[in-house]
Amino acid sequence: MFESHDTIASEHQERCWQEVQELLKDHEPKEIEWDALTLLPFLTMCIKESLRLHPPVMVISCCCTQDIVLPDGWVIPKGVICFINIFRTHHHPSVWPDPEVYGPFCFMPENSKGRSPLAFGPFFSGPRNCIKQTFTMTEMRMVLELTLLCLRILRDKESLRKPELILTAEGRLWLWVEPLSTSQ
Ligand code: HEM
Repeated sequence: MFESHDTIASEHQERCWQEVQELLKDHEPKEIEWDALTLLPFLTMCIKESLRLHPPVMVISCCCTQDIVLPDGWVIPKGVICFINIFRTHHHPSVWPDPEVYGPFCFMPENSKGRSPLAFGPFFSGPRNCIKQTFTMTEMRMVLELTLLCLRILRDKESLRKPELILTAEGRLWLWVEPLSTSQ
């Protein structure tokens, strides 16, 4: 089972690598503009899928500034403090067909149709959302782009999630890294 997961992960990595190669075609990495990094759609879907499965911020709290009527008629009165479980939302089977499986294609536009924009919110939304959301996404694209150019990454050991103030990994994340010249 793990082997097939690793094979799929490898295919995703290969596709990301090709996308990066395409972006860089006639350029040096240092010539790539910050905005051009948004032209990595599959890599972006992979980042989003990682944030869906493992949202660093799992729960946030909000104070209702008005009465909120839920779809089944229950009302959360103004002034009540609610805890919103981002992790649970990201793993809810009514929204995500195969919630525990890593599947970046769920973020393709045609597969996102009809899904509430609130079903995926690692940075949350509304007036208290993460002020560094765009920066963080671009930074992750950039780090992955530069990493994929020279390294192939494989999982070394299985890691379990460790929920703390933010989500971490029990015993840390162990990766196996190969220079690309020897693995390609
Ligand atoms: C993957 C990385 C990150 C994730 C998943 C994340 C997620 C979040 C979430 C869910 C909130 C809302 C918290 C709440 O309402 O209680 C938040 C708020 C915030 N984040 Fe991030 N964040 C990330 C990176 C960063 C970085 C790199 C910075 C700054 C350099 C940052 C700065 C902030 C600030 C200042 C707020 C508070 C905004 C406010 O209350 O008005 N975040 N973040």
